[in-house]
Amino acid sequence: MTLQIAALASGVGSNVAAVIKSINEGMLDARMRIVISNRPGAPVLEKAAQAGIPVYVKDSADCENREDYDRALLAAICDAGADTVVLAGYMRMLSPMFVAAHRGRILNIHPSLLPSFPGRMGTEDAIKYGVRLSGSTVHFVQETMDSGPVIIQVVVPVHAQDTGETLMPRIQALEHRIYPQALQWLAEDRLRVEGHRVNLLPARKPNGSMASFGQSPLGPWMVSPPLEGF
Ligand code: GAR
Repeated sequence: MTLQIAALASGVGSNVAAVIKSINEGMLDARMRIVISNRPGAPVLEKAAQAGIPVYVKDSADCENREDYDRALLAAICDAGADTVVLAGYMRMLSPMFVAAHRGRILNIHPSLLPSFPGRMGTEDAIKYGVRLSGSTVHFVQETMDSGPVIIQVVVPVHAQDTGETLMPRIQALEHRIYPQALQWLAEDRLRVEGHRVNLLPARKPNGSMASFGQSPLGPWMVSPPLEGF
């Protein structure tokens, strides 16, 4: 079923742009209904406006009560006709009330192999720790931060001289493929959460119903489950 997406973002918006591109290219069965930011002036807002997508900005710096803040967001999401919440660099915890309102329909992307290195500085924390492999995770959102059932992960090598500035672009290049892929699986109703595990059901039609699903150049050891054309 076509996803009606509300994207929540605080920063640059490269993941929001990647989702919009996948929709426009016919790869992702979704509509971007609204882009919401807690940061006035965040570059993601300009990207959304250029793509003709309505935006809603509510400065989180002005807000004392998290539930009041999230209630305003829920109203904006409802007014926009969205049924799926896509967190894309949204650097603010959601209240339990918000999570309950869209349970099972909120996805997040985090730049590490969760459950390692949750939090705001996932990439930098992985480098400081000295891991040789990091990556990115798309997961369902639950009340505790960066902890929900994992939908897809991609592995990225960490080089000896890496800093956040050199590692992040390599991670993000792959985020721009795994996030639309995870959303397409949600659109195809192929994700089943059992306990803390997500099972991916087989495609109903070979190669799916959307455009040009083909072999992914990323080997199965890099991304799991394997990409279907993204
Ligand atoms: C993304 O890399 C995402 O994984 C990360 O923020 C970046 C946003 O980039 N999210 C987190 O760190 C969440 N804890 P973008 O604005 O260019 O999409």
